Amino acid sequence: MNKIIIAIDGYSSCGKSTLAKQIAKELNYVYIDTGAMYRAVSLYALQKGFIVNNVLEVTKLLAALPSIKISFSYNLAQSKSETFLNGVNVEQDIRTIEISNHVSKVAQIKEVREKMVDLQRAMGDDKGLVMDGRDIGSVVFPNAELKLFMTASPKIRAQRRFDELKAKGDKVSFEDVMANIVLRDNDDTSRTENPLIKSPDAIVIDNSDITQEEQFELALNYAKNIIG
Ligand code: DC
Repeated sequence: MNKIIIAIDGYSSCGKSTLAKQIAKELNYVYIDTGAMYRAVSLYALQKGFIVNNVLEVTKLLAALPSIKISFSYNLAQSKSETFLNGVNVEQDIRTIEISNHVSKVAQIKEVREKMVDLQRAMGDDKGLVMDGRDIGSVVFPNAELKLFMTASPKIRAQRRFDELKAKGDKVSFEDVMANIVLRDNDDTSRTENPLIKSPDAIVIDNSDITQEEQFELALNYAKNIIG
């Protein structure tokens, strides 16, 4: 069977990773969450004290870039991929609202993006890959065989994210989650470096009013039509 690259882009919290994981599992492909990579760099910046009073000290982060190593490992027991920062499992630590509030600043930096894009491209050498993010179809893999662009209304996305954080015991208000979504939509679409855009050849999936199962069936059909 023909192995392909599936690029999934879209707004924050619109279920990209859920869909990407489902497809990867079904096709026995590798799944890469590129948001986790920008989150890991943000965690590093916070840990090193490069973010002071909400301001990122870019020069310090750039000087430290060569010492930031990001990798993924599959946790067989929990059937999920986990993110490692310099050999330490940071999967939980990168999912907090604090990281969500700082990550746009880090993801705007050209040198950070270049490093992440290089790493991401290397992961596609063998194809058989589902990668989600903001610039996968437009920049990382412009020749990806299948490009999906996902969207849903901001309110629906905020509600889903809020429910997720609440279920994990995170004490966060719906208003804070909504504000973060609106802010990140704005940052993602307006930044100069690799902004979130829909590639002309990407297929749009608006999942405001469809179930996860319907969305999965839809996306899987697109993939199977290409794979043959
Ligand atoms: O998908 P996510 O919410 O975990 O992504 C975290 C942040 O990283 C998000 O605010 C946008 C940024 N990002 C990016 O700029 N490019 C990517 N390919 C993936 C994520």
